[in-house]
Order: sequence, then structure tokens, then C-alpha cells
Amino acid sequence: MCGIVGYIGKKPAYPILINGLKRLEYRGYDSAGLSILNKGIRIYKCRGKVEDLENYIGSQHVKGSIGIGHTRWATHGEPNDVNAHPHKSMNGHFIIIHNGIIENYSKLKKKLTDHGYNFSSETDTEVLANLIEYIYLQGKVSAEIAVRLALRKVIGAYGLVIICTDEPDKLIAARKGSPLVIGVGDKEYFIASDATPIIEHTKKVIYLNDDDIAVLTRDALQLKSLDSKNLIPVIQTLDLDIGEIDKGNFEHFMLKEIFEQPKSIQDTFRGRISKEKHTISLGGLFEVMPRLITARRIIIIGCGTSWHAGLVGEYLIEEFARIPVEVEYASEFRYRNPVIDKEDIIIVISQSGETADSLAAIQKANEAGALVLGVCNVVGSSIPRETRGGVYTHAGPEIGVASTKAFTAQVTVLTMLAMLLGKKRNYLSDEFYTRFISELQEIPERIEEILAKNDQFKEIAEKYKNVNNFMYLGRGYSFPVALEGALKLKEISYIHAEGYPAAEMKHGPIALIDEKMPVVVIAPKDDSYEKIVSNIQEVKARGGIVIAVVNKGETTISDMADHIIEVPSTNLALMPLLSVIPLQLLSYHIAVMRGCNVDQPRNLAKSVTVE
Ligand code: G6P
Repeated sequence: MCGIVGYIGKKPAYPILINGLKRLEYRGYDSAGLSILNKGIRIYKCRGKVEDLENYIGSQHVKGSIGIGHTRWATHGEPNDVNAHPHKSMNGHFIIIHNGIIENYSKLKKKLTDHGYNFSSETDTEVLANLIEYIYLQGKVSAEIAVRLALRKVIGAYGLVIICTDEPDKLIAARKGSPLVIGVGDKEYFIASDATPIIEHTKKVIYLNDDDIAVLTRDALQLKSLDSKNLIPVIQTLDLDIGEIDKGNFEHFMLKEIFEQPKSIQDTFRGRISKEKHTISLGGLFEVMPRLITARRIIIIGCGTSWHAGLVGEYLIEEFARIPVEVEYASEFRYRNPVIDKEDIIIVISQSGETADSLAAIQKANEAGALVLGVCNVVGSSIPRETRGGVYTHAGPEIGVASTKAFTAQVTVLTMLAMLLGKKRNYLSDEFYTRFISELQEIPERIEEILAKNDQFKEIAEKYKNVNNFMYLGRGYSFPVALEGALKLKEISYIHAEGYPAAEMKHGPIALIDEKMPVVVIAPKDDSYEKIVSNIQEVKARGGIVIAVVNKGETTISDMADHIIEVPSTNLALMPLLSVIPLQLLSYHIAVMRGCNVDQPRNLAKSVTVE
């Protein structure tokens, strides 16, 4: 949450910062601001989106080739012009942008108030700006030392970029808990929360680690630790194309990402599944495979959509590899007192690789001595660096706040893992294994077939776009899909939606059913098919509207339901990869028809770097 961007070089900073902020807007869009050094320093900031900032700046000619910019997801203080970043210290020596939370800010604020500081905003960031300035002025030290000393007093998380007006040819960046990437150009540097604003300028990047402080001038980059040891920067080359972060011909990123799923799934299994030999290999797990094969328990941890993928993973791993699996919300796991055994394997799933609760859960599991692995999408993000091994989902950048292609890529990885473990633990026959791999390889084509029916989903959306409540029901593998379908709808259309295991309906939710309530039932022809037919009858008997997702050619449910969405047949364990697609599109169309901003739904952010 919160996107930060900085530039130091010879080019005009303004377009670089504005375009950078647009790329980062998925991280938060409560307010936006920037500050550019040009003889003096000017700060422009306002409530709202980057577009509002551009309008606010209007035709003013913002000159200068050093600057910082910020797009905010509010934590401390309501979203307004004053609380927007950048923040200036009271005497104007420091301008800072910040992503994260300073947990001891009220204590620091009190002390600074006692020393005569006053504050114009309610933010923790302004406290930090004043703390740095106080140390700078009292200690008569350089800006870099003042930053270092101030950060030693801070409890919390930060990605920071700082300008000191007395040292105008310099940017200082620091990281703890919140990501920062530096782009290395020719006599110029870029800084951002992730690589998306950098990619159009350079592919050479340095990922900062926790407790790193970088001092950037046009000609040099100095990297030090918080305790002032010199560090050698490791320059990496980005494997990312500018086209991947553009909307192309699609109206929204979410729609583009839904339609990318045949490719993103293929990219996720490419090189890991051998078509000829029918084998699966996951390089990032190679070293830990002996422990995985003998695992007595796996705990999968995630948040939001990643947690839903984890639930599918539980069903897959238990079915195929017969290893007990538990799935935990990261936020619960980190704060309750879970039993973690040294023999446990913890798998943390995260699209961004930066989710604060998931990172804290990793720390807890590491402290308990468990083996922690990651399933992440963003290469170089924090979770892959904090874990002992793992598997990247190669879904490509996901910009729409509502997760779509990341989910199916995560499920693809978990499917491969379950298969691999099942085979190695001798629970799967060669015949089943081979057939399953072929079916997995066919999934992208099956998804194309579903995407071709987009207009049908639009028609259904048109009918129900104005209802207030939706229910989603599924059994077995379709239960996590029901949860995910409901989450997609509420996230982007603000319609209340609940996902339930179909059999649980009679323990409460059935009371909600009336002739205005659409119930989406995910009903593939699996072992519990007859049961779900009964559930549909129960809904119909109470006047509910049934939208059923069924296998192609199915007739029983088709005769009962109000709307039928047909998806191709495949192995039941692969059905979530297919049945989730129409639900994503249904939510998308409803949200568009309701005039909602699907890529940037209210109050949400894509990368939740606060707890
Ligand atoms: C936010 C996003 C969700 C995402 C969740 C977990 O809430 O809006 O789409 O599923 O965070 O994020 P992660 O990056 O850890 O998968």
C-alpha cells in the first residue's frame, strides 16, 4: 500500500514521477503528491487520484530533475490534502515520502512536541520528517547520519525517499518491511515501490533489503546498512516487458488479466511439465524435496484470494499426496499461538510477495524452526527472499486490484505440487499421473472456450446488476471457488455476497433466500453432484434464482436452474481453474454496469503492506 517513486538525473523529473505514480496507483489511491527540487522546492499534493494531482498542477511548469512522488492508501489520518505525501519537516529541511507505518509515532510526536515541534497533518510520516530534522539540527550532522539515527529510534515499517533541501543533489532512500527498488540508468537513478515505473527507463535494478540505506547522487549510488557498514549493491536484470504493464486494447486491467489466463497458466507450467516424459519438476523445491516428501503436516498461509488458492491446495495435496494440510489466514496465524513443529512445512502464498501479515507469519514460522516455502508472483519481492525455497507463479504483472490470473496461477502451482508429491509418495498410478498431466496441459484451451462465451456472462450480469445480495455455493473443490466468486463480486461491485459450502446453506444462509436473491451454484459432475442437485432444489423451493455453473451437456440442473453457464469437463481437481473464470467475468460486468472503478475499487489496495 502506498506507492512511492523518486528520480535523480538530468531529465525533467515531472513526467517520470507522474507516469511512475500512474503505474503505482494500484497500491493506493486516496491521495497523490509530488515534490521537485529546482533551486527551491515545491510540493504539490491533493486528495484523490494521480489524475486529480495532474489537474491540480495544471499548466504550471514544474521544472527540475530531482523529485519524489507518492500515491497514498490512508493509514494514519483521513485521506485529505494535508495528510497527502510528501511531508515537509517543520523548518523545511526535509521532504519525505513514506510507505509503511511508524508504530511508535505517538510517543515520538509527544517528545518532538515537548521540543517545540508542531504538526500540520495527522500522519506518522510527518513525525518521522520532524524527527530526522530535530536530530539533524541538534546534532549538526549530515542528512544521511540524521536519517540513520532517526531510523534507529523508529519501530515499524518503512520504504522512504527523502530530500534534504540543504543537500540538494541527493536522494536518500531507506527500507524496512516495505519494498523499494532502485533503477540504474546512465547518470540517473529511479526509485520505486516496485519495478513497474522503472521498466520503461532501465532494466537494471537493485532490490533494497531491510535496513539498507541508499544515498543517490546523479553519478553514484552508495549502499549502507543502518549501522553504517558499506554494502555492495547487487544489480539484477528485470525480466519484464513494458507491454505487460499496459492495458493494450482492453478497457480495464482486470479484463485484460482475465483474458490472459490461458497464457499465464501456460507460463506457470512451462518448463515444469514435460509433455513428452509426462513429468513435473519444480526447481525451487529441489533442495527441500526430501523434507516435503516426508512431511507430516503442511500449513498453507495467505490472505484474500491467495488464501482461497490455499484452500484449493489443501484439497489437492490431501487427495493426491495424503499429507495433512491446514490453511491459515496470515493475520490469525501471526497473532494467535499456533502449534508449529520443527517438522512442519509452511507454504506462504502471495501474489505481491509483500503482504505484511504474510511476512510476519513467515517470521513466526522461521522462529519456530519450521521449513518455510513461498508461492509468489512478483520476482524479487520480500517473501521469496525470506523463504528457504518456493515456486514462482509466472502470471506476469497483475495490476487490477481484484486478483484473477494470480489465483489461477497459484492453483496451477499447487496442482503441480500435489501431483509431484503424490507421485513421489507413491499414491498415484502412472496411468493417472500421465492422464492428469495431459489434462492440465489442456486447461488453457478449455479456458479459451469459456472466454469465448463472455457475451453470455454479460447478459446474466445485465439482469442482476441491481440486486443487493448474492450467494455462491459449492462443494469440495468448488467450495473455495464459491468463496472466490463472492469475494470478486463484493470487491469490485460493492454488492454483498457470501460464499458457502453448499451443504452449510441449511444452517443459516437459507433464511436469506427469496425471489430477489441470485444464488450462483458451482455444480460440476463430481461425487457430490446428486447432493448439489438437492441443494438447488432447496433454493428453488424458496423462490431463489439459480445461476448454475455446470459441465457441458449436463441436463438435470439445466432443467431446474434459471441460468446455465456451461464449462468444459476435465479432471475434477482441475475444475477450479475453469469454474472460476465465468465468476470473474460475471463480477467484472456487474461492476462495470454499476459504474464502479473495477481496477481501483474503493478502500482496497493491491499490495497490503500494513497489518
Ligand atoms: C489484497 C488484494 C487481494 C489479495 C490480498 C493478498 O487484499 O486486494 O487481491 O488477494 O491482498 O495479497 P497477496 O499479494 O499476498 O496475494
